[in-house]
Parts: sequence; C-alpha cells; structure tokens
Amino acid sequence: MSPLLLRRVIKPALFALCLLPFAAVLWRLFGIGGATLGANPIERIQDTFGQWGLRFLLITLAVTPLRDWFHAVWLIHLRRMLGLFAFFYVLMHFLTWLILDQGLYWSGVLEDITRRPFITIGFAALVLLVPLAVTSTHGMMRRLGRRWKSLHRLVYAIALLGIWHYYWQVKADVREPLIYLAIALVLLGWRAWKAWVAPALRRRTAAASGAPLQARRASE
Ligand code: HEM
Repeated sequence: MSPLLLRRVIKPALFALCLLPFAAVLWRLFGIGGATLGANPIERIQDTFGQWGLRFLLITLAVTPLRDWFHAVWLIHLRRMLGLFAFFYVLMHFLTWLILDQGLYWSGVLEDITRRPFITIGFAALVLLVPLAVTSTHGMMRRLGRRWKSLHRLVYAIALLGIWHYYWQVKADVREPLIYLAIALVLLGWRAWKAWVAPALRRRTAAASGAPLQARRASE
C-alpha cells in the first residue's frame, strides 16, 4: 500500500465511514426524509452511540490480528483513527446520558455512577479511555516510549468492561453482549497466543531439534 494512497484515499474514506453512524443519528433527529428516532429518542441516541463505541473498540482491537493474519502492515496506520472514533462514540454515549437523560442533575448523576453497578463499570471504562485518547498523538508516543505501549494495553480491560457494562444492563436477551464477548476473546486470545504460547512452542521445537546436534557436538 503506497503512503500516498493511504493518506489521500484510504484515511479520508475511513474517516467518512466512521462518521456515518453519527450522521445517521442526526439524520433521524432532524427527521430528514421522514426518518425518526422512534418513541424514545433519547434512549435510541444513547444506545446507538453505546453500540458504536463498543463496536469501534472491537474494530480497533481487531487491527493487529488482521495485520498478522493477512500480512497487511498498512492496517496499523488506521488504528489510531479507529481508536479515537471509539472514544468519540463512548463520549457521545456518556454526554447523551449526562445532558439529555439526566439533565445535568449532578446529585442524580453521582448517585447513578456510585449506586448502579452497570453505570459504575461504564464510567470506569470511559475514565480509562481518556488517557489513551490524550496520549494518542505521535508526540506523546515518542515522549512515553515503552510506557506508551504498556499504557495502551488498558484498551483490553476497557473493551471487557464495556462488554460487562452492556451485559449487565440487558434485561433478557444476552445474546448480543455474548457475541461481543466471543469476538473480544478471539482478538485477545490471538495476542496471548503470540506473546506466550507461540514463543514457548518455538523454544521447545528449537530445543528438540537442537538436542541431538548438541549431543553430536559433545561427542565430537
Ligand atoms: C467504554 C465505555 C462504554 C461502552 C462501550 C458502553 C456501551 C453501551 C452499550 C453497548 C449499551 C447498550 C445499548 C443497547 O441497549 O443497544 C449501553 C447502555 C447504557 N450505557 Fe453505556 N457504555 C459505556 C460507558 C457508559 C457510561 C460512561 C455511562 C454513563 C455514565 C453509560 C450509561 C449507559 C446507560 C444508562 C445505558 C442504558 C441505556 C438504556 O436505557 O437503554 N455507559 N452502553
């Protein structure tokens, strides 16, 4: 993939694509073409943003495995944008709740965050996302060095917290959060495989094939 194609075509196209869910909400909000947000527009807006926040978190987590599986190194250049869109949608989800649902009624907000476990978990995920968004620039990457990678590993916990939060607020049909969980486990499982299992297997294979050689060398 040429850097020019990536910068001039792929990135702007992806940016526009990522904005589509937001545009769809605005489209319905303003009733363009007779589209509506249904009987409970605030809940619909909040749910849409929450769903897309979680989807973008998982899409961001999918970049590294997809790069490995399809040898598509260029995909890594899209990861930051996808991660920032995850933050954008989660923030919109939170602001919809804070402003439209809670009406900035702070004591109610505080009570919900501290007393309703699924909201506590969602809020924790949002709080953890903030340092990742703030340090997503190339400058911060350089400044933090190796610590940047460790910090950004928080995204694994954030995705699991987001899924837990979703699972907990669903009343009956838990299939969708469980599908998200299965996807997250595959994506995180691949990383665990790469970090621990594959090197151990390589070491064992090398030891097995190296043992006779060493024995031969010793007897020479
Ligand atoms: C990483 C962070 C978060 C993610 C990924 C996330 C995702 C989601 C998802 C997928 C849903 C279910 C939507 C549906 O039913 O279709 C949801 C619901 C909800 N979330 Fe979050 N959320 C996050 C953070 C937050 C925060 C910070 C708050 C508020 C402090 C919050 C408040 C809520 C509420 C109140 C609902 C239920 C809405 C309803 O009544 O349908 N979430 N969230």
